Amino acid sequence: MNRRDFLLGTAATAGALGSGGWSLAAAGEAQRLIIQPASFAFRETPTEGLVSLSPDAPPPVLYGTQGKPMRLRLQNGTEDYTAMHWHGLRIANAMDGVPYLTQMPIAGGEVFDYAFTPPDAGTYWYHPHCMTMAQMAHGLTGVMVIREAEDPGFDGDQAVNLRDFRLDDQGAFLPYYTARGAARGGTHGNVLTANWLQAPVYDHPAGGLVRLRVVNTDTTRIYKLHLSTDQARIIAWDGHPVEFELPLPSAQAPLLLAPGQRADVAVRMPADEGQTADLLAELPGQPAHTMARLRSVGAGLARDLRELKPLPPNPVARPDLAKAEVHDFVFGWTPEGGPPNDGYCGSMGYSFWSINRTPWAGDAAKGTGPLAVLERGKSYVLRLRNESPNLHPIHLHGLAFVPLRSNLRRLPALVTDTLLLLKDEVAEIALVADNPGDWAFHCHVIEHQKTGLAGYIRVV
Ligand code: C2O
Ligand code: CU
Repeated sequence: MNRRDFLLGTAATAGALGSGGWSLAAAGEAQRLIIQPASFAFRETPTEGLVSLSPDAPPPVLYGTQGKPMRLRLQNGTEDYTAMHWHGLRIANAMDGVPYLTQMPIAGGEVFDYAFTPPDAGTYWYHPHCMTMAQMAHGLTGVMVIREAEDPGFDGDQAVNLRDFRLDDQGAFLPYYTARGAARGGTHGNVLTANWLQAPVYDHPAGGLVRLRVVNTDTTRIYKLHLSTDQARIIAWDGHPVEFELPLPSAQAPLLLAPGQRADVAVRMPADEGQTADLLAELPGQPAHTMARLRSVGAGLARDLRELKPLPPNPVARPDLAKAEVHDFVFGWTPEGGPPNDGYCGSMGYSFWSINRTPWAGDAAKGTGPLAVLERGKSYVLRLRNESPNLHPIHLHGLAFVPLRSNLRRLPALVTDTLLLLKDEVAEIALVADNPGDWAFHCHVIEHQKTGLAGYIRVV
């Protein structure tokens, strides 16, 4: 079956399903998402072999509202298996999209209904958790905006999905992972994009206040970011409002935004029409690279950053540190001969990494058991030790945590789901285990995740 027949075939299947009474009722107001092959011109010639939710565009921003049910009917229009994860959302375990841990992989042509109610407002994102490396590297990463129940009063909202692609001069994909990269800092792309575009320009009202949502959905790159304006303030981190003033990043002290992380920045647009506020990235040995630009248009508002009310905090339980039990986690190399990665969700063929000396045995295996069992409602401190010289953005599903302390730096008391663990760092984080289920716990450098640096934590 060629690609076109395959797509027509799946469309016909969906049509047949849609006319069946049960699925009409079940679909309700479900938003239909179809994972499918795509092509897109990053340069002059179109790049084929992308994976998206439409044939010729990046995965769209998905919107929801805090406390309101969402229904997403995901159809797999590819020939590979998949499963979709909603990164940062504290939802029921069965909707978390992790193959074998929370659901079976979704085969080509199959449909899976995701239904959940996001408890938290803020900036989140979505990506597959089966064929993770292949599908993410080929484009399947999108931003998810959960709106506050009450409008926080911005004049503009701009989501920016930062990610690299690894392309040759003709625009064709280069190998998206390498053994060398997987065993070290990961394999970087060479075309840096924002919403799949190179330095896109977005128009917003001159003198207005714009909520810039910067999302790192790359498989590897830790972006070093700053803005061309000082009329800006970081208002949320990894979805959650920050309750104190964070220093505004600069070229000398850029913001480290690791894969999986998000920063919401309130930007006061320049007063004059045509002026821009730019999002810049520092790359080794190069002048600052423009990732995206916000351009002032129109008559001119006279807004002031000080007018902004703080965003309402999300309902995240604060851990009781006096009663918290401590659990240790060591992130390091794989002891000789890690088990092969098996199952339907894509293997890279080797194990380089481990958590607590155990490399993840592959997406099919729950066999290694949970890394820790936490009791529902109790407070815990997780002590994370990086034994390797590489950086690891450590992500926990289904729960939000607060960084406490580190042997290397002062950690701001943010509420987050992903902590960038530095070389030789030992960091402590705290959480309340208030969401039951098996929650994936892994490095978000996908080449690390897929070569062993993954596991799960059970909340009972
Ligand atoms: Cu962003 Cu386990 O994922
Ligand atoms: Cu890592």
